[in-house]
Amino acid sequence: MEPKFRTLKGMHDLLPDFHDYFTFIKKVARHRCRQNGIKRITTPILEKADLFRKTIGENTDVIEKEFYVFKDKNDDMIALRPEGTAGAVRSYIEHALYNEVQPIMFYYIGPMFRRDRPQKGRFRQFNSFGVEIFGKQDPAVDAELIILADTVFTDLGLKKDLKLKINSIGCQKCRKKYIQDLKDFYIGHQRNLCADCQNRLDQNPLRLLDCKEEDCQILAKIAPKMKDNLCEDCDMHYTTVKKYLDELNITYMEEPTLVRGLDYYTKTVFEFYYGKYELALGGGGRYDYLVEMLGGPDTPAVGFGFGIERIVECMKDANIKVATKDFVDVFVVQLGEKAKIEAMKLLFELRNEGIKSRGLFGNDSIKAQLRVADKLQAKYAIVIGEIEVRDNIVMFRDMQNGSQESIKRDELLPKLLKLLNANIDKI
Ligand code: HAM
Repeated sequence: MEPKFRTLKGMHDLLPDFHDYFTFIKKVARHRCRQNGIKRITTPILEKADLFRKTIGENTDVIEKEFYVFKDKNDDMIALRPEGTAGAVRSYIEHALYNEVQPIMFYYIGPMFRRDRPQKGRFRQFNSFGVEIFGKQDPAVDAELIILADTVFTDLGLKKDLKLKINSIGCQKCRKKYIQDLKDFYIGHQRNLCADCQNRLDQNPLRLLDCKEEDCQILAKIAPKMKDNLCEDCDMHYTTVKKYLDELNITYMEEPTLVRGLDYYTKTVFEFYYGKYELALGGGGRYDYLVEMLGGPDTPAVGFGFGIERIVECMKDANIKVATKDFVDVFVVQLGEKAKIEAMKLLFELRNEGIKSRGLFGNDSIKAQLRVADKLQAKYAIVIGEIEVRDNIVMFRDMQNGSQESIKRDELLPKLLKLLNANIDKI
C-alpha cells in the first residue's frame, strides 16, 4: 500500500526496536552521570537563531549549510537547535548558575536538528547525549570527562573497536599567530584545495585541516601544526591532560588535524570513532570563552556530545543485543461476554501487582488467541471461558512446555507471583 504521507527527508521514526537500544543507552548515560555528580537539564528545542550563530560560528557547516531557521509570527528569527552546548550555556547564564558551587555539571539527552545531506549516519533530526562542565580550568576536568565518555562506551560494549583522538587548538592568544601561519602555508597551495576549502581559507582556515577531500588531506598532513605553536599555558594544559589519560590507562591518538566543526573550542579537543571506517560517534572539548562571550562571567567550560543514532548503528553492527523489559509475562485468553469482564478484572489486578500482561479483546477463538500469546512469547496464558467464570477457576497454561491445569481463581495470583518473582516490574 502506498502511504499518503511519509516522514520528511532525513527525518525518521524511532520504532520500538530502536527504543530498546535508546533506553539502554539512556540508562547507561544516566547511571554514569549520577555516579559523577552530573545532573540532568533540558533546554528548549527552539532558541533565538542568534544564539547558535554567535556560538557555533557563521562560517561553519552547521550554520552555513545545515541550520533550520524560521521567522515566527513576530518576525523573530528562531532556530531548531543543532546541538546542545549553546542552550546549556545560555541556561547557565540566564539562571545565574555561576553563583552555585562550581564546577557545575549537566547532562542532556534530546533531539537536535541539522539539515545535513541525508546518508548513512546523517539525519536531519537525531538524538544527542551531552555533558557540559562549567567553572574549572583544571586539565583534570578534561581528563575526567574523556574517561566518563570512555566508560560509557565500555558499558555499551563498543570499547573494542573504539578510537579516541585528541588535540589542542590553543587559546585566542596562540591561535591568532598560528592561523596566520596556516594561511601563509595554504596561499601557495590554493589551486589544490576543494571549493569548500578555498572559501574556508578566508573565513575559517582551521577547518581546512579536517576536510575529507583527499587532496586537502594530503596538504593538511604537511601544514603547520597547532601543537607546535601552543603558548606555554596551552602547552602545559595539553601535556597534563595527556599525562592524566596515561595515568588512567586511557588509550588515545594525538591527531594534529583534529579541530572539530564548531567555532567555540579552545585548548583540548577530542573525538571518539568506531570501527575501521572511523565513524565519528561524538566528541567535544574546552570552550573557555563562550560563557563570557554570551554575557556571563569569565567561566571556563568543557563538554562533549554524542550521536545516539550512530551509537545504535554501531551496536547493531557489532551484534550487541540489549535486554528489553518489553516482554509479556501473562497473556489472558477469554471467550464469552462474562469471561471478557473477568479477563479485564484479572488484567487490572495483574498489572497492579507489576505483572506484565496482555489480553486480546474481540471475538477470536481460543486457538487464535493462544497463537498470538505464542507470537508475543508470553510465559503463561490464562484461559477464561464461561465455565471458568461459573466455577471460579482459570485454565493455567505454561507456554514454554505447553502443560495446562485448572486452578482456583484465588490461587492464581500467589502462583504467578511465585513463578515470576524475579521479573516483577513495579514503578
Ligand atoms: P558535534 O561533533 O557537532 O558536537 O556532534 C556530536 C555528535 O552528534 C557527532 O559526533 C555525531 O555522532 C552526532 N551527529 C552530528 N550530526 C549528526 C547528524 N546529522 N545525524 C546523526 N548524528 C549526528 C556537538 O554537537 C558539540 N555540542 C559537542 C560538545 C558538547 N562540545 C562541547 N560540549
